[in-house]
Amino acid sequence: MIFTNLIQTNLTTKVFGHEIEYFTFTDSTNEDVWESIEDNIDEGFLVITDHQKKGRGRRGNDWISEPGASLTFSFLIKPQLPIEKIGLLSLLTGVAVVEGISKFAQLDCKLKWPNDIILNDKKVGGILAESKQIEGEIYVVMGVGLNVNEQELPSEISTISTSLRLEKKSPIQREPLFAFILNAFESMYNKKNTEWIDAWNSHCVHLNSDVKFHHDNKIIEGTFLEIDAMGQAIINIDNITQKFSSGVLELS
Ligand code: BTN
Repeated sequence: MIFTNLIQTNLTTKVFGHEIEYFTFTDSTNEDVWESIEDNIDEGFLVITDHQKKGRGRRGNDWISEPGASLTFSFLIKPQLPIEKIGLLSLLTGVAVVEGISKFAQLDCKLKWPNDIILNDKKVGGILAESKQIEGEIYVVMGVGLNVNEQELPSEISTISTSLRLEKKSPIQREPLFAFILNAFESMYNKKNTEWIDAWNSHCVHLNSDVKFHHDNKIIEGTFLEIDAMGQAIINIDNITQKFSSGVLELS
């Protein structure tokens, strides 16, 4: 059970999270927000559930979360950004998740490009941003899945995934944690894009590290330097700097 009043008492935002729809269970909170668009919802409208049954992950993967243990939520952004910068919103969300966790739970999470949330070298959360242009306006649904109080993870992912509780070795109250993430999101959203990029680079777990990069069915090896103003990965490959806007990163 998630208590929305406990979220709201910890919120300092003006926009994000002021309208919250809570479902005890649902298929996908991203889908729920898209369905609500027909009801003329405002920016900041948010859906959270305690039991997501058909969670969608990136690259067509499923996102599986334990009922009653994780945070699974999605919210609407109506960005005033040029279309080529829409991708920055998921990077900004990653920054907000890391900073919200740090402030509330004193855990030092990191980011893996583009927006995996990493704790002690394991994945603890992920972000799925979906966008559509409707009647000339861009709508972005930002979905976040975060393992919070799981005490064990399914065996098929337990070597690569973790939860905040497993690392902290104590349970974490989800509602204020969630509010801290939204507070961090709104405060960063109101800053310049260049600050989002600087913050992302400062939280990156593989800055100046050797990486393997899966791109166009090839595996490329190089050193990850940083992300640029468009959120592209800048990788040094055989002393030549190359930029990538998509791909899957493997830490060496
Ligand atoms: C990833 O693959 O790393 C991204 C996972 C994103 C999962 C979240 S959970 C809330 C929202 N609803 C969904 O169906 N997916 C996102």
